[in-house]
Amino acid sequence: MVDGTGKRAIVFGASGGIGGAVAARLRRSGNYGVLAGSRSGRADFHFDLTDESSIARSAQQVGSGKPIDFVFIATGLLHRDDGITPEKSWRALDPAHTAEVLRVNTIGPALVAKHFLPLLRTDRRAVFAALSARVGSIADNRLGGWHSYRASKAALNMLMKTFAIELTRRNPQSIVAALHPGTVDTGLSRPFQRSVAAAGLLTPEESAAALLKVIDGLKPEDSGGLFGWDGVRIPF
Ligand SMILES: NC(=O)c1ccc[n+]([C@@H]2O[C@H](COP(=O)([O-])OP(=O)(O)OC[C@H]3O[C@@H](n4cnc5c(N)ncnc54)[C@H](OP(=O)(O)O)[C@@H]3O)[C@@H](O)[C@H]2O)c1
Repeated sequence: MVDGTGKRAIVFGASGGIGGAVAARLRRSGNYGVLAGSRSGRADFHFDLTDESSIARSAQQVGSGKPIDFVFIATGLLHRDDGITPEKSWRALDPAHTAEVLRVNTIGPALVAKHFLPLLRTDRRAVFAALSARVGSIADNRLGGWHSYRASKAALNMLMKTFAIELTRRNPQSIVAALHPGTVDTGLSRPFQRSVAAAGLLTPEESAAALLKVIDGLKPEDSGGLFGWDGVRIPF
């Protein structure tokens, strides 16, 4: 599972549109030995973000051996068949739905951090990245709506910033980054793509290529930030 350079990458959410494309691209690059995890489908390891013991188990499974260079979290929840859908008004707020969106988008990645940040290498550059969303930027919120999803991503951004500060003390060359992947043609965005001109809609492969390029260009002083697929830093 370790390539010629000995670098290891772990991808969470490989069954998703963007996560699948990121895992495939990393494999093709030959720069990393890649282990891809998902809740459903074929994967090198399985986990459910709402079950901490499954994340701890994954860390044991994946963490044995050499330290990890790169963790990429590509999971997320915007809508689901059981009635979860982004709110148009405060009137639509449902506490159980809000709790589930936060469980998947905020607490889940935080638990991945809890179990995987200790496995990152400390002797050279190491990256911990998670897909967030531009709509999680409080400064950028002009349209309103999507209360739970926005709140879950804003809180994720804060957690990532906080992890960045703590991780820098262990490894000054480390980078923690929240990423906005663009509007990408996946199951997550499909019901909401009407307002995006076709030219503005990215394929998962285009988004994955752009995101990995952005990550390659990040420096330790960028750690804790939110970055778009175009490489531009998005204010919190
Ligand atoms: N697509 C866009 O336009 C867009 C825009 C901005 C931000 N994003 C963000 O990008 C990320 C990836 O989105 P995507 O478009 O690739 O969506 P997607 O195709 O729907 O993929 C979502 C992934 O999350 C996983 N997941 C959901 N709940 C989980 C749980 N409880 N435990 C483990 N895995 C779980 C899914 O696993 P299963 O296959 O098992 O359900 C799937 O692998 C999300 O964080 C999203 O918020 C996307």
